[in-house]
Amino acid sequence: MPTKSRLFITGGVPLQGTVVSSGAKNAALPILAACILVKGQYTIKNVPPLKDVMTMLKMLNSLGVRAELIQGNGVMIINDRKIRHIAPYELVTAMRASFFVAGPILARTGFAKVPLPGGCAIGTRPIDIHLKGFKSMGVDISVEHGFVQMLTQQLTGARIYLDFPSVGATENVMMAATLAVGTTIIENAAQEPEIIDLANFLNSAGASVKGAGTSTITIEGQSELRGQNYAIIPDRVEVGTLMIAAAITKGDVFIEGAYADHIEPLIRKLKEAGASIDVHNNGIRVYGGNELNSVDIETMPFPGFPTDMQAQFMSLLCVASGTGIVTETIFENRFMHVNELIRMGANIRVDQRQAIIQGVGQLYGAEVKITDLRAGAALILAGLAASGKTSVYGLEHLIRGYHDLPNKLQSLGANITSQ
Ligand code: EPZ
Repeated sequence: MPTKSRLFITGGVPLQGTVVSSGAKNAALPILAACILVKGQYTIKNVPPLKDVMTMLKMLNSLGVRAELIQGNGVMIINDRKIRHIAPYELVTAMRASFFVAGPILARTGFAKVPLPGGCAIGTRPIDIHLKGFKSMGVDISVEHGFVQMLTQQLTGARIYLDFPSVGATENVMMAATLAVGTTIIENAAQEPEIIDLANFLNSAGASVKGAGTSTITIEGQSELRGQNYAIIPDRVEVGTLMIAAAITKGDVFIEGAYADHIEPLIRKLKEAGASIDVHNNGIRVYGGNELNSVDIETMPFPGFPTDMQAQFMSLLCVASGTGIVTETIFENRFMHVNELIRMGANIRVDQRQAIIQGVGQLYGAEVKITDLRAGAALILAGLAASGKTSVYGLEHLIRGYHDLPNKLQSLGANITSQ
């Protein structure tokens, strides 16, 4: 199986110790895109140095915003030049979150030309909700030759109802609205913690965004935004992944810097499954030890169970006692980790949007392939619990969203090496 890089894991070691979570990828990407809106010189702190973040920095520099990674996971921004309005094709196709630049470019220049972001392994990932929001704000939109062309004489505030509480659409419309004329009200908005972090960053630069974290967000347009230094929240998906690593290996791990209110559904489900969890003001302790039992999960928009934790939780259900049902309601193709888990001895049956997992006493090491970011994390978790050696191929997917995960697990005692 040809691959650029792979991990070797020998399972069965209970993880012990303390680990520090990194900054949130899904907060860093929209906040970096929002730097197009925010003039001046300032630093964004606690930015995880991930492949996707590096792609976004290239995007900013190509649009005229100087952005560079500095010591200690900071990004220095100098936004004092004219903003270009065409986003490079090779960057948007490398990372669909690059489409977050559409709203900011529109707000700054009134004209944005951004390639249609491709789908990805987990789904077609349409942008119709983003475009419907822009249209309500007075933007003429045409799609030709694979580019979305957006033009407006004056970006105007509007009342916008999102057909689905899309995270990206909420963020894109919110960013555009900060420099629009008048008031924008976003109804049925996404409520994820990353939405609140973006709003806090924009407000620190003089924007007026109220209601972030609820289903109705009100934005009063301003004439200009000027930047302050800002630190990004911890990555709740990395925290959740480390929590499951502790539970699945029956270890005892303290995740420093984790915010419990960002990961409440997972805390509840892990406790239901028999893990012990103590929430402290500076982090979360997860300790297993006893038998894990099966539970059902259904992914939902925040504050429901996060789709980005579905694959990782399924690995835990593979070795729990009983039968667990996983229902994936957000993405149409987010069960690609199932076949790889079955190669490790898991007993899983997929029926449309549901996976039925019959817990088995033990998983066995095998050669497995990463298909998408969170599936990769799930296979590593399964390898940590399996008996024998697991080789995980396709690490290029993993480094898009996890900073240094193998080393973090190794620091907790995991027998994991990369080649
Ligand atoms: C964000 O993606 C995250 N990415 C995803 O994390 C996360 O899984 C997702 O939100 C849901 O929480 C970033 O923040 C960079 P959506 P996004 O718009 O904004 C449909 C990870 O692993 N939809 O909330 O693209 C869409 O097809 C990644 O870190 C439309 O139909 O997610 C999907 O079924 C994966 N039309 C659902 O909504 C639209 O215009 C949720 O998508 C937009 C979305």
